[in-house]
Amino acid sequence: NRHLLQAPRMLARHAPAASFASAQFKVCINGGAGGIGQPLTMLMAMNESVKEVSVQDVTMAAVPPAGVAADLGHLEFPSKVVGYATDPSKPAVDQLEECLTGCHLVLVPAGVPRKPGMTRDDLFNVNAGIAKGVVEACAKFCPDAVIGLIVNPVNSIVPAMAQLYKNKGLDPLKIVGVTSLDIVRANKFVAEITGKSPTEIEVPVIGGHAGVTIMPVFSQDPTSATISADKIPALDKRTQDGGTEVVEAKAGKGSATLSMAYSGARFGSKVLKGLAGTPTDECAYVASTVTELPYFSSKVTFGTKGVETIHGIGTLNSYEQGRLKEAMDQLSKEIDKGLEYAKANC
Ligand code: NAI
Repeated sequence: NRHLLQAPRMLARHAPAASFASAQFKVCINGGAGGIGQPLTMLMAMNESVKEVSVQDVTMAAVPPAGVAADLGHLEFPSKVVGYATDPSKPAVDQLEECLTGCHLVLVPAGVPRKPGMTRDDLFNVNAGIAKGVVEACAKFCPDAVIGLIVNPVNSIVPAMAQLYKNKGLDPLKIVGVTSLDIVRANKFVAEITGKSPTEIEVPVIGGHAGVTIMPVFSQDPTSATISADKIPALDKRTQDGGTEVVEAKAGKGSATLSMAYSGARFGSKVLKGLAGTPTDECAYVASTVTELPYFSSKVTFGTKGVETIHGIGTLNSYEQGRLKEAMDQLSKEIDKGLEYAKANC
């Protein structure tokens, strides 16, 4: 449930003593001084199950991570926030020991975002290198943590990093691609069309996280299932193009940051709830056997060890069956690109 974000807590004074006792998790945000990183760090620092947040970014970040940490360290929540600045010309693994040791959840919005006219794929080489530095350090200092990769292109970077974990003898299911923003957008767009509250809508979005691989399954949510079939293709397309809508509206000054931070915190809060003992579902992009592709996003139950159950895709109508084929054809190529990178670099 999306109220796990606890934003309403801001409005009500609360008894700190009671809530401090339940704070048990250490969370790291890599790229935490960036457009997504800052609001995401803020939302995770406001999660009352979090005892410590590491904000990591590079030395030349627009704002020093120590500044973000000092700022967020004044919020009246249990979390202690600590900043870490690293030199990108040196291996991350040599610099992140204190930052990552003891982490339960690592969220990675570090990387370069899209500019108008760019696809997520254009970002691959630079961002895969950044992700690799962080993930290698996680393998060494917090191998049991769930790593939520936000850095694009998720479709290729997740297979590459999961392969890196496999090569090190670690569990590839610790590597999870965050696709929650696609769900959030689908829910909101359905709410706008139907006049229902978005809090009552939960559209599963399966496949991957780019273009046609983003596949909202409108037939599986009771509210979106009432939308007439002739309106579905445009709604499907708008969900796929939600990121581009923001990139264009920001006119070269960034991509989706605030809605992504919200979605990253939605994902992170669900993972922490699972780790705390309440199994919680969210669609996410993981190593998978639910289709013939080795990586796929479908509903995942997060439990005390992270990914607990990967659910099948359920019943699709004929439009969705056609879309699944289209999504899989494209996703297959993007997975291969990630696996090729892993072969050469990991
Ligand atoms: P941004 O440029 O505002 O922030 C990125 C941050 O990463 C910067 O502070 C930068 O200094 C930092 N960084 C660069 N190299 C680093 C390194 N080696 N270690 C640690 N930090 C490093 O970009 P923004 O808008 O926050 O986007 C970040 C990433 O998230 C991009 O790859 C973007 O495409 C992706 N994204 C993913 C979405 C999703 O749904 N999964 C949605 C929107 C964006």
